[in-house]
Amino acid sequence: MLIAALKETAAGETRVALTPETVRKFAALGASVAIESGAGEGAAIPDEAFREAGAAVGPGAEIIAGADIVLAVQPPDVAQLGPVASGAMVAAMFDPFRRRERVDAYAGAGLEALALELMPRITRAQSMDVLSSQANLAGYKAVLAAADTYGRAFPMMMTAAGTVQSARVFVMGVGVAGLQAIATARRLGAQVSATDVRSATREQIQSLGAKPVFVEDVAGIEGEGAGGYATEMSEAYQRAQAELVSAHIARQDIVVTTALIPGRPAPRLVSDAQIASMKPGSVIYDLAVAQGGNVEGSEADRIVRRHGVTIMGYSNTPAHLAADASALYARNLYNFLSACWNKEAGRPVLDEEIGNAVRLTQGGRIVNEGLAG
Ligand code: NAI
Repeated sequence: MLIAALKETAAGETRVALTPETVRKFAALGASVAIESGAGEGAAIPDEAFREAGAAVGPGAEIIAGADIVLAVQPPDVAQLGPVASGAMVAAMFDPFRRRERVDAYAGAGLEALALELMPRITRAQSMDVLSSQANLAGYKAVLAAADTYGRAFPMMMTAAGTVQSARVFVMGVGVAGLQAIATARRLGAQVSATDVRSATREQIQSLGAKPVFVEDVAGIEGEGAGGYATEMSEAYQRAQAELVSAHIARQDIVVTTALIPGRPAPRLVSDAQIASMKPGSVIYDLAVAQGGNVEGSEADRIVRRHGVTIMGYSNTPAHLAADASALYARNLYNFLSACWNKEAGRPVLDEEIGNAVRLTQGGRIVNEGLAG
């Protein structure tokens, strides 16, 4: 059983799917592990550290030859996978609904593509949840990046030269990323408020010492659908939300948006008119920019200035914390594969619940229900 990882090739991708820690753990399961030379560079892991952990390190085409499982952050091109074992598993974040052509190519090559972002949100799979592990770091980094760009301080400071007022931070969308953004902004000394469509988040916001800002008295306030994810809200709700945000946002210095609805474009939460109502020098960080953005005018990987407000958003915020993001991602992968490791077969055998959710292709066909049709 050979587990291998190539150097990531996507622009701006600094993460790596294996770490020396997980190399040792996979070896303890009885697997051989191989990694392309330089794969850990972006995450500050030298080849030597992989060698010491017991991995073979070498050129991509060599280390991948005969691999039974390929681990990746973003899936390699099928052309790179020619030398792998027939029917090999490839576990990565496939973004299958927007990158359908890639799923087709994997099916055509007879590979078994496993999309980690489709891991079911069930208790036993929490330690395998790449969306959570990466979103948590993204929420933290978004606040630091916004604080760095903001021309004022976050905490209140009483100095001999006078008082510096604390910053007001508004977090829109309180899932995993939003909760970490609130906690980080609070630790930096800001006054923090937050909003979400799921009413369950109200208490979570309060428990972090922030102020909840919620639409009241509109049907559909529950806002929670399958797997704890948000649903799309009614028009009446959206109108009430826009009014509420307009009244609140003009007084904010920093806005961090994280709102997502699975399988749909990100909801538009901040309009150009609302941006124009903010003070010059304010900063907006749109964490949903890669899914279409929560903020009108935000552009992936570009800093945009509108009405004196700086709007930022990177398509891959976790890649800006490559070492920690890789460590957690690699552990998610190990937790996933080891949990379904079959000792007799010496390989992972996915159970139905997890297999049906994450498996995209097998035996030359697309097998995922969500991709049917
Ligand atoms: P997400 O990344 O899909 O969305 C981020 C947040 O945006 C969510 O809180 C969502 O309610 C909110 N949102 C969507 N539309 C909005 C709108 N129009 N206005 C304001 N906010 C809006 O969510 P994430 O971070 O993946 O978490 C979703 C839920 O899943 C949470 O309750 C989380 O605790 C839960 N969860 C459960 C896990 C498990 O049981 N294994 C693992 C991870 C998260």
